Amino acid sequence: MSRVAYVNGHYMPMRDAQVNIEDRGYQFGDGVYEVLHVHRGRFVDTDLHMSRLERSLASISIAMPMSMPALMHVLREIVRRNRISNGLAYMQVSRGVARRDHAFPKIAPPPALVITARHGAKLPASITHWGASAITAPDQRWGRCDIKSVNLLPNVLAKQAARQAGAYEAILIDNDGLVTEGSSTSVWIVDAKGVLRTRKLGTNLLPGCTRGALIGLLNDAAIGFSEAPFSLDELRGASEIFLTSATSFVKPILQLDAKPVGDGKPGPVASRLFAMFSRHLDGGQNS
Ligand code: PDD
Repeated sequence: MSRVAYVNGHYMPMRDAQVNIEDRGYQFGDGVYEVLHVHRGRFVDTDLHMSRLERSLASISIAMPMSMPALMHVLREIVRRNRISNGLAYMQVSRGVARRDHAFPKIAPPPALVITARHGAKLPASITHWGASAITAPDQRWGRCDIKSVNLLPNVLAKQAARQAGAYEAILIDNDGLVTEGSSTSVWIVDAKGVLRTRKLGTNLLPGCTRGALIGLLNDAAIGFSEAPFSLDELRGASEIFLTSATSFVKPILQLDAKPVGDGKPGPVASRLFAMFSRHLDGGQNS
């Protein structure tokens, strides 16, 4: 079955799907995106993703391309037409098509909307084989990483450096020697004192929806955690490191810069959160 994409009002075969070369997303990276995990045919943490989309768009003064119910309808339709049971949906909104000029067009064009979906990994039954390795890399991104912008060049370069080192992720270190996040994931540690930590949100990192959902689960279970920033040294001394994202779920990092993390196996905290998140996928705020 050939894949179906939604492009500016039309469902079409993926191979025919095209955007205008003067689309500002293509010309300037002037747009934002979302990636939603599809679990058993339903979106996970929908409200978190859709409110982050609204926030990203508002931050760069792009209007919603259509009403929220209409957008949800198209998202569900793309999942249905592609017969996705487990996978992901990708949605990108750009400022639209206009003659190339850096400043916003005087008369705002309609925002351009592209939605695709594909089959993908489902959450494994056990965390045992879900571990991966990471490298550390300098955070070379801009000052508004809280906006889920399609400008991903530093993230792309960092991820490529990870791939070339045979690793899954690059964990980014800012100019103060503190961990911000992964190139496409949120980063968590259990520090040398046993404290679960992930960095406080700010303009320097993306408010991960999986991070947000997990914090909700931690609060419900009265599990303590800290949002104090942690340094590269603390990362290196952590007994557990794990990543979260819509596509990584809760992913233990077993090797950092080619050295084992803890005893080199998924740790007890990551294992517990993996189990909690897996229950959340089956019963949480999904639509
Ligand atoms: N990445 N940090 C960055 C820089 C990200 O790009 C992502 C998501 C996350 C985790 O966010 P969430 O839990 O909402 O997926 C953190 C997506 C999956 C991507 O770009 O493909």
